[in-house]
Amino acid sequence: MSVRSVLVSGGAGYIGSHVVRDLIHAGYQVFILDNLSTGRRENLLGGTLIQGDVGDEQLVARLISDHHIESLLHFAAFIQVEESVNNPAKYYENNSIKAFRLFKTACDNGVRSIVFSSTAAVYGIPRRIPVAEDCSLKPINPYGNSKMLTETMLQDLTRASGNCQSIILRYFNVAGADTAGRIGQVYPKPTHLITLALKTALGQRPELSIFGTDYETPDGTCIRDYIHIDDLSSAHLLALHALENRSGNRIYNCGYGSGHSVLEVVAAVRQVTGNPVPVRMCPRRPGDPPALIADSDKIKKELNWQPEHDDLEEIVRSAWLWEKRLQTDGTLNLTLT
Ligand code: UFG
Repeated sequence: MSVRSVLVSGGAGYIGSHVVRDLIHAGYQVFILDNLSTGRRENLLGGTLIQGDVGDEQLVARLISDHHIESLLHFAAFIQVEESVNNPAKYYENNSIKAFRLFKTACDNGVRSIVFSSTAAVYGIPRRIPVAEDCSLKPINPYGNSKMLTETMLQDLTRASGNCQSIILRYFNVAGADTAGRIGQVYPKPTHLITLALKTALGQRPELSIFGTDYETPDGTCIRDYIHIDDLSSAHLLALHALENRSGNRIYNCGYGSGHSVLEVVAAVRQVTGNPVPVRMCPRRPGDPPALIADSDKIKKELNWQPEHDDLEEIVRSAWLWEKRLQTDGTLNLTLT
């Protein structure tokens, strides 16, 4: 059988690099298109990196033709909710307009399969918890809006193209690191709860802010569905296989279907690290829904997704190993270009 070539935009980022790892392991020839604005060469365990922009139609068309690309996985995006509120143009330009150019170029140049990284932020404050894929979409911030628009454009483009199909994966709260400890999350300004709690446990931060203690949840703090990066990555491989078998356009939630409060996460971090995590109770953070939990029945049934790391302590443990490595291994220092 001939080697299948895939193009991975944003493959040098946190989530993309774990999927690149698994694609290589599965025998794909992997081409990574990344402008290295937040991604890092050091995150790549293989594949061929092309430093460039996803909105560069000529470059994308050339890559597709030169490397006989049949499938595209699109990760490149900005992801910070608060930043999106302050600078919506950055989010619409990158996450929507450039994504549109990328998808159109892919469809026009014979790409047959597209896997798109979307987010639970498209649901806004869901009426039902756990939230299923057919729940109405009402994002409450520009980040969620930018992804919802892109979902719509992708579905319209693939429907009209006749030969290209897509799977949209809506991620819940992705956390953890490569179980072998080779790659993990490195952001210049981290905002995610587990990462910040671990950096506090390491003494790199004096305290962790708890954003909101008056939500209508059992302990008053927000509830999220934390999913291990390796389980999220395996969902991408299954999505790609389904598209290769001409599954048709689909949308799937990626989460475990169970939630943990902010205080439960802090307790897990204390338990795993054995270190104190000083906390400060703070007002609510704008744009935070009280609870987000995935109904993940659809991906389990249709793609036979079988998560293997559905355990908060295991997620925290893998992220902890990575954070300790980041602290001690000088070669991993931030080298953002
Ligand atoms: N939190 C704190 N203190 C912190 C950081 C976070 O209390 O220092 C709380 C947040 O208020 C929230 C929970 O921890 O209640 C999780 O926050 P994260 O920032 O880790 O993650 P979010 O739920 O905000 O974001 C995730 C994805 C986004 C997506 C969003 C959908 O990372 O891409 O879910 O709501 F848009």
